Amino acid sequence: MSYQPKILAFAGALRTDSTNKKTIRIAAEGALKAGAQVTLIDLKDFPVPLYDGDIEADSGLPENAIKLQELMLAHDGFLISSPEYNSGISGTLKTYIDWTSRAHGGHPAGACYGGKIVVIMSASPGGLGGLRGLFDLRKVLSTMGVILLPNEFAVSRSHDAFNEDGSAKDAFVQNNLEGLGKTLTEFLIRLNG
Ligand SMILES: Cc1cc2nc3c(=O)[nH]c(=O)nc-3n(C[C@H](O)[C@H](O)[C@H](O)COP(=O)(O)O)c2cc1C
Repeated sequence: MSYQPKILAFAGALRTDSTNKKTIRIAAEGALKAGAQVTLIDLKDFPVPLYDGDIEADSGLPENAIKLQELMLAHDGFLISSPEYNSGISGTLKTYIDWTSRAHGGHPAGACYGGKIVVIMSASPGGLGGLRGLFDLRKVLSTMGVILLPNEFAVSRSHDAFNEDGSAKDAFVQNNLEGLGKTLTEFLIRLNG
């Protein structure tokens, strides 16, 4: 049977009308069209406290961090869209990365990141589209053993970038975001197929 890549897609933002959630949805569609099996999740469905070593020492990882780790372990690659907060990675996303990076259930620290193929993107109402946050995210993930593809895209003026149906108003943006999903899918097929 031919190999079908498994891709986990999520945004590093929680709010319901998040433009990063719209961004990741389009990239996920691109991966689906290219033949991947895509799991699109909303981190809001996995609430966790801020990382606190006392919580970990007293009761281990929060249940939702464990659920996320298991999901991540079960996928070959990730699509991540994250907003830029104060020129860096969103605290929301960093909290999830920190919890899921911890050792658990026989898996060493960072097990759900090592060797995963990842493509990142961002959306921001500013002119740079959150690009500076991507530098930060790239640094964090690459030191965790993730293989980050060079392709990325930043959706600028994001508050006016999407139609009611979730598609991008600008075909260039739509194609680039779908292209990120396609690129990740094709890379995984070349690697494992
Ligand atoms: C605490 C905070 C800091 C922010 N800092 C930046 C920033 O440095 N650069 C930027 O382009 N946008 C910044 N923004 C604006 C976000 O890009 C904007 O709120 C964006 O829509 C958030 O992503 P979302 O639509 O997915 O929720 C900031 C927003 C917040 C709440």
